Amino acid sequence: MNKPLNIVVGVAGGIAVYKACGLVRFFKELGHEVTVVPTPSALQFVGAATFEALSGNRVSTTVFEAVDEVQHVRVGQEADLVVIAPATADLMARLVAGRADDLLTATCLVATCPIVVAPAMHTEMWWNPATQHNVSVLRERGITVLDPAHGRLTGKDSGPGRLPEPVQIGNLALTVAARGGFNRELAGKRVLITAGGTQENVDPVRFLGNRSSGRQGFALAEVAAQRGAHVTVIAGHTDFLETPCGAEVVRVVSAREMAEAVAQRAGGADVIIMAAAVADFRPASEASAKLKKGVNDSDLTTISLVENPDILATTVQRRAAGEIGARVIVGFAAETGSADQDPLELAKAKLQRKGCDLLMFNHVGHGKVFGQLDNSGWLLAPDRAPREVPSGSKFEVADAIIDAIVDLTVLPS
Ligand code: CTP
Repeated sequence: MNKPLNIVVGVAGGIAVYKACGLVRFFKELGHEVTVVPTPSALQFVGAATFEALSGNRVSTTVFEAVDEVQHVRVGQEADLVVIAPATADLMARLVAGRADDLLTATCLVATCPIVVAPAMHTEMWWNPATQHNVSVLRERGITVLDPAHGRLTGKDSGPGRLPEPVQIGNLALTVAARGGFNRELAGKRVLITAGGTQENVDPVRFLGNRSSGRQGFALAEVAAQRGAHVTVIAGHTDFLETPCGAEVVRVVSAREMAEAVAQRAGGADVIIMAAAVADFRPASEASAKLKKGVNDSDLTTISLVENPDILATTVQRRAAGEIGARVIVGFAAETGSADQDPLELAKAKLQRKGCDLLMFNHVGHGKVFGQLDNSGWLLAPDRAPREVPSGSKFEVADAIIDAIVDLTVLPS
């Protein structure tokens, strides 16, 4: 992991305060030092004892405690990252006004480190012009305000305003800490992402699949959405991951279903990222009933395969034919290499063969990358030197990929 950080978890008073406990635990398990600074109303929902036990540090809400240690400035001065989750409409209004009437707002006024605000409130409060104005002012000041998730709220209603899950906030916040802040260069852009592994049915109970967890594709969706994009994910099989916050997710099973879903949506996309592990072949026929040992032995011991559509190559061809207008198409290459084949050279050949604008190459096998939390590799683009992506969380790698996409969009090639 990267170097341990001093993280302040600010907690404002809303029903989602219980999720702040998970966030504190997420940071602690990664080895970071955490100080929880709740507002007095946050403690109406979860007591100080819980936050003290989880963080291993004293909790106070007011500038009038530990005055001899000048706590009202020390906490902010020593922080490497401030994450406020949940942030209420009231807390954001107080941040905009520059108030310092409790320890959390005083800490935010002092902190020069990255600040991440994760709002949670009812949809009406989120869309209220006052709140939207406050969100834009905070973003203009360089504070990263995450978009809330859509979903079930406290009452019977649902809509935007839900606090993302602790693991999502934590991963996004650490990505922000590594770069300083998200700016929203992808605002107004439509990004289509494939993620996870396809499954090719043999019979109703068996399939041919692969080890893809979907983590990298989902991390790309999270980061692209928080950098302003309108994101659609075409997802095959994934591990039990939280649905990417702010993205529309279309579930598919087989490569052909994924190809169909991409074909339907590629026309409207500015950027297409193919992070899915697509099965190159599928069984030539799918048995309608379970194949039985001793009855269908030959069907079970020898499965005839036929080739699946190459979704990436087809999408590139459609662009060349003028059918779709995507500005950037990104592929992935997971290569093991072999004794006589350098994996990077294989990836360079794949970039040329597939004809995409960017290829994220990573070296896989022996427990590397598939299903792991970290990733690393090289970004390859035609006529450009390979750009190394250092080892980091899949969110940090996603962020580096989005940077490269933004560069390709902005800079002349
Ligand atoms: N891909 C795709 N459709 C396929 C196979 C792959 O869209 N039928 C995409 C993947 O999502 C990835 C890229 O192509 O972005 C490279 O995938 P990979 O499986 O490494 O490529 P292959 O062409 O199958 O090469 P290999 O011979 O190494 O399996």
